[in-house]
Amino acid sequence: MQVDGQRFLADLHKLRSFGASGVGKGVVRPAYSEADMEARTWLKGRMEEAGLRVETDAMGNLFGLAEGPSLLLGSHSDSQPEGGWLDGALGVIAALEVARCADMPISVISFQDEEGRFGVTTGSAVWSGQLDLEAADLLLDHNGVALAEARRVVNPTGEVDPAQFTGFIEMHIEQGPVLDTTGERVGVVSDIVGIRDMKITFEGQQNHAGTTPMHLRRDAFQAVSEFNHALAERFKNVVTPATVWTIGHLSLHPNASSIVPGKAVFSMQWRDGDADRLVRMEQIIRALAQEIAQARGMEVSFGPMLGLEPVHMDARLRRALETSAESLASGAWRVMPSGALHDATNVSRLMPVAMLFVPSIGGISHAFEEDTDEEHLVLGLEVLAGAVAALHG
Ligand code: GLV
Ligand code: MN
Ligand code: MN
Repeated sequence: MQVDGQRFLADLHKLRSFGASGVGKGVVRPAYSEADMEARTWLKGRMEEAGLRVETDAMGNLFGLAEGPSLLLGSHSDSQPEGGWLDGALGVIAALEVARCADMPISVISFQDEEGRFGVTTGSAVWSGQLDLEAADLLLDHNGVALAEARRVVNPTGEVDPAQFTGFIEMHIEQGPVLDTTGERVGVVSDIVGIRDMKITFEGQQNHAGTTPMHLRRDAFQAVSEFNHALAERFKNVVTPATVWTIGHLSLHPNASSIVPGKAVFSMQWRDGDADRLVRMEQIIRALAQEIAQARGMEVSFGPMLGLEPVHMDARLRRALETSAESLASGAWRVMPSGALHDATNVSRLMPVAMLFVPSIGGISHAFEEDTDEEHLVLGLEVLAGAVAALHG
């Protein structure tokens, strides 16, 4: 199969123009934003030009469908609130290029809200049955907008039956430092870590920042600060060097310099490849938050917990990627786990899945600076195409 690296790069740069941040190659294209919906309209046209039949489901997942049973390729085209040009986009545009060139049926997907404006990989979670649409509709973004309201901008054409797909391969940037550090050019994913994510709220007493003595304060931010510090200590005997946890969003009420904050809501997210460890971490998180609230005479509450279990990649699809990687990047590729989450996790409930990585310069992603050498982007596309051809042959 002869893919066209220049056409693929041109499409990738065109997709970047939707929501271009003006800072480096960054994009601001969160799920259901104007830029996201415009990008999807453009993608729909590209899918149709490739001879695919386009369907958009109720969530806004965009499918370009081949006739009959087909292999599904793709990823997502929404971005983080401050995102890079390749996270998700690479897998979608690589899929499009392979679908244009393959002499076997290839379908293309751009999932909606992989970046979790409303949760965690929301579009593929709903499509795979991991999450009910009715339950998903109640999820709120950080501004209090419900998914049900946000997805009104979607014009659904119909639901897509997963039974028509024989498997799913997602190409993606690594988003971490491994390949860039070792100088290897391709990664074949062995498994994807699991994740838990929930909101925690501390409520104390809003008060005057000048007159309230320190020992009488019930300051919600001080509770978060103590929690964050103590958590690392409590985790010490439970986590491994591969375990990660993040407080990435914090909102203080009323968020003013001269007011002791009465309320703090923050995101608590943790990830690991071992499902049991995720459970033990949850127990520690809940117990510690309750302990701190009690000691400070405050209330604590926990939002709905979203989670995905760790998953293994399919042996047959993975072998096809490994063989293709060895033939195109002999000795310069590795098998590796994914510390980032992907739609492939949800899709693995429905069919065999596998993933392919290319390096991220400096290991940076979820930031405007995210980038990959174009030579590596094209090599990844060729490895994908080689694997697809071998699976068919
Ligand atoms: C997906 O973007 C993730 O947060 O891993
Ligand atoms: Mn992604
Ligand atoms: Mn991402």
